[in-house]
Amino acid sequence: MTAYDATMACLLDEAGVDLILVGDSLGMVVQGRSNTLPVTIEEICYHGRAVARGIRYAHLVGDMPFMSFQVSVEDAVKNAGKMVKEGGFESLKLEGGIAYVKHVEAITRAGIPVMGHVGLTPQAVHAMGGFRVQGKDEDAAKKVMTDAKALEQAGVYSMVIEGVPADLARRVTDAVNVPTIGIGASVECDGQILVCYDYLGMVRDLKPRFVKCFAEVGDAIVAATQSYVREVRQGTFPAPEHCFSTAEKKTLSDPKKSNPVRRSSCGPTE
Ligand code: KIV
Repeated sequence: MTAYDATMACLLDEAGVDLILVGDSLGMVVQGRSNTLPVTIEEICYHGRAVARGIRYAHLVGDMPFMSFQVSVEDAVKNAGKMVKEGGFESLKLEGGIAYVKHVEAITRAGIPVMGHVGLTPQAVHAMGGFRVQGKDEDAAKKVMTDAKALEQAGVYSMVIEGVPADLARRVTDAVNVPTIGIGASVECDGQILVCYDYLGMVRDLKPRFVKCFAEVGDAIVAATQSYVREVRQGTFPAPEHCFSTAEKKTLSDPKKSNPVRRSSCGPTE
């Protein structure tokens, strides 16, 4: 799954996900942009640190944003190092195939595990003419296969396959010896990934076909907030049980009792 903050990461970790990606999808679902291109290394690292505080077991992957690795191999290694140091990531993902073999080799040589990403690569949205399914004809499918094999040779430890037909996902998964992780690429992959807000039903204006909403959290948030607004306007919230009184002073300073003014959170405290 993807996650971008400690609270969500803590919940996904408790649910048993193997891996959490701080994706550059945050440009769209957190920042409200129409694509991922403006996302910066600093932004990915900021969210990485937050997510790292929320997880205990899941492997933490950071997405290398647009233009953080494309310019040169040297840039790629420097920026990868910066992301591991400042974002707390255990491995990094980068989009693209055969063109980035040298970059993947150099980052891996520096001791940073790399996850590849082939098929629909959102950082190439303009080159692809939009967010379109890739590999639909044989030439296009061969390109995806070539990219996947090149990345495997370069040393990636796994790869995302995004937005390709099921039979191509099967061919890639059969052809490479590292785990494939699908998004919009059918069940013919070794694992799956989704953007957290998508499978939780929180993105209400866009429901792509490859997403299944496993809950309608968006509806729950709207309903809960309507109740909150109603009770605040009626003056029934906060009720006496939500309020402090001077008589409770002793309780506040009693170290054996939990401090009722401690902020509520499922994440660890600093
Ligand atoms: O940016 C992202 O969240 C991703 C995943 C959806 C694979 O790249």
